[in-house]
Amino acid sequence: MIKEPDTLMLIGFMGAGKTTVGQEIARQHHSRFIDIDSEIERVAGKTIADIFKERGEKGFRELETQVLNDVQTFDGIVSTGGGVVEREENLEILRSSPATIIYLHGNLESTIGRLILEGQRPLLQEKSTAEFFALWQERDPKYEEVANFTVETVGKTPARIAAEIIALFSANEDELALLQLRSQIDAFDRQIFQTISERFLVVESVAKYKEKFGIPTVQHDRMLKLRSELKSDFSESTDITDEMIDNIMTILMQAAIDKENRQLNR
Ligand code: S3P
Repeated sequence: MIKEPDTLMLIGFMGAGKTTVGQEIARQHHSRFIDIDSEIERVAGKTIADIFKERGEKGFRELETQVLNDVQTFDGIVSTGGGVVEREENLEILRSSPATIIYLHGNLESTIGRLILEGQRPLLQEKSTAEFFALWQERDPKYEEVANFTVETVGKTPARIAAEIIALFSANEDELALLQLRSQIDAFDRQIFQTISERFLVVESVAKYKEKFGIPTVQHDRMLKLRSELKSDFSESTDITDEMIDNIMTILMQAAIDKENRQLNR
């Protein structure tokens, strides 16, 4: 059981939302919050970017280990830097930590999007996408190893992730295993709906072409062809049946046709 922790520590890749979610848990749960990166900046009297510039990554990591040690018994929520799993020394601290450690797991695509928006991590400036991916793959098993629990974050708002984490405090062992799996399912559902809303954006652009070239909204042959391709591509899967494909495609295509008709006043 994850007991109501004195110290709750959030780990995960840069851009996973550790600080935002940590602040949100603190708000919802009325607890204190500390961010290791901000603490490093406070101790050094400099920004992270300046520490990297002046002392290199090695100098930064030394400060990070020092602060990580100091916050092990902090009464509240601690958000760590994404690179906290870089040093073996830190992994040792985390393995024997009295804190409950939660891994905020996202995907590379949404993480890079977030980082580009924020645009101020020193490592982001230095690395190519391929190097970023390699870093992701190298760190992912380390986060998994030291965490007591993994929460899937893709498509979820910080408030929802925070509520999900707070709900863990009252769960017993079996419920925890179930919650972990449900966390994955919820994230998939959100990805599905995110994809459907992106599908609508494309439909909108298609409608403009149909108007320009006077093409009818409904293209029966194309729809039938697509369904039969999907059925043959997914026929290996015992769980996705032809009936499921028909039902889902009917909903998606009907919604698209309605949208196009509304847009084109047809
Ligand atoms: C780093 C992540 C950053 C910060 C520093 C190094 C990393 O923290 O500690 O730029 O190595 O992943 P966030 O995870 O909060 O971005």
